[in-house]
Amino acid sequence: MLKKFLNKIDELSSLLRKPEVRSGQLYAVTALFDNPNKIIAAAETVADSGYKKFDVMTPYPMHGMDDAMRMRESKIGWVAFFAGLTGTTLAFLMMWWMAGVNYKNVIGGKPFFNLPPSVPIMFELTVLIGALTLVGFMIAIFNKLPFMSNPLQDTDFIKHCTSDMFGIYIEAADHKFNEEEVKKLFTLLGSNAVSSVYYPIIDEGKTKTPILDFKFMSILIITAVLTSLTTYLVINKLIYLAEPFTWMHHQPKVLPQSKSTFFQDGFGMRMPVEGTVARGYIPYQYKGMPDSLIKNLSNPLPFTKEIIEKGKKKFETFCSPCHGYYARGDSRLHGFFPAPPTLHSDKVRNWPDGNIYNVITNGQNNMPSYEKQVARDERWAIIHYIRVLQRSQNAPDTDFSSDTTKTTVKPDSTKTNSKADTTKK
Ligand code: HEC
Repeated sequence: MLKKFLNKIDELSSLLRKPEVRSGQLYAVTALFDNPNKIIAAAETVADSGYKKFDVMTPYPMHGMDDAMRMRESKIGWVAFFAGLTGTTLAFLMMWWMAGVNYKNVIGGKPFFNLPPSVPIMFELTVLIGALTLVGFMIAIFNKLPFMSNPLQDTDFIKHCTSDMFGIYIEAADHKFNEEEVKKLFTLLGSNAVSSVYYPIIDEGKTKTPILDFKFMSILIITAVLTSLTTYLVINKLIYLAEPFTWMHHQPKVLPQSKSTFFQDGFGMRMPVEGTVARGYIPYQYKGMPDSLIKNLSNPLPFTKEIIEKGKKKFETFCSPCHGYYARGDSRLHGFFPAPPTLHSDKVRNWPDGNIYNVITNGQNNMPSYEKQVARDERWAIIHYIRVLQRSQNAPDTDFSSDTTKTTVKPDSTKTNSKADTTKK
């Protein structure tokens, strides 16, 4: 089977490589020159005489050839520009539709559709669509591929052009083409090797449009399927069957929510042993205690600039999405969560610190508990910061006296305005 297949490939490729038999149909008239100045002059004359379908072949790139051939600037740049622009626009519309219309998701209270995070996608799609379109255009339009059997192949002309001479040819398809005239022109220009190249006779059924060839397509599809299948089997199956890849997968363990035959009650997930505390976790000792006791909890942290700044950071991370940066209840959640009341109410201002601590720890009505996310000291730091915010919004007259540096009020949470002298310490 494989041998037959390889033979077939050999057969096909030899067919493509050596189109020995030539038909009577003229493809082009070619001419070889033995010096670069002559070929430049030839290119200029041919272009100026109005021939369009001609080309020059030299063994190495030659400066000034584009000008000599009167080549205009390639339109490929415009293709790239418009393809890229299409990519940018498509990505922009896609992001706007997905994030702003179809699947609105609150992410940290940011606007649904936002330009900066869309820029990478827009960039990617610009490059992707630009590149793919360019390749497609280059192949199909600019280079007119697939063109499997150029009639110039296997001619003396092309052999010299790739080693020691400079060639030019005019296609018979040119509107001005006349075999005798072209030959005369080339001879006049100083060529000593003018010849006519005829189309080769080839089995066009197989080579003209190989993409439509049944056998070619079958081989392509079989290869694709085999490759994908092998990849799939190796990555998804083999790795779970063969050691040592399976060691991690098959280790003795209980998955979350799964049952267990080891414990009598059949549960895989266990409660912590009674009376134990996780490392680094400071439990809330006042759970279920009467309000009067909670109120007496006082803030254990000093009222220093560093602590207030830490409180600010934590407040802006954990509280501000709902409460707003200034605790005014101006939530950034666009109504996806009930907006909380302002923390500048007389009620909260008069609350002792212990009360706020209690709300953060246990939650209150709609507000969930932040016990797990915010550590104990962070909660107290937040409370210091809330006091600063409250004072900033409700400053007593004494704050405006000329001698502000002397207002060193002791932090006392039971007073309406806890102090906010951040300049101290
Ligand atoms: C998910 C949104 C949300 C977050 C985040 C949040 N809160 Fe609240 N908060 C609320 C809501 C809603 C209420 C009102 C609850 C109610 O109806 O009693 C509230 C109430 C409060 C109250 C009581 C206000 C009053 O007048 O009764 C305090 C104090 C408070 N929050 C502090 C905080 C602090 C401090 C944080 C950060 C650790 C925080 N909240 C984070 C939604 C939130």
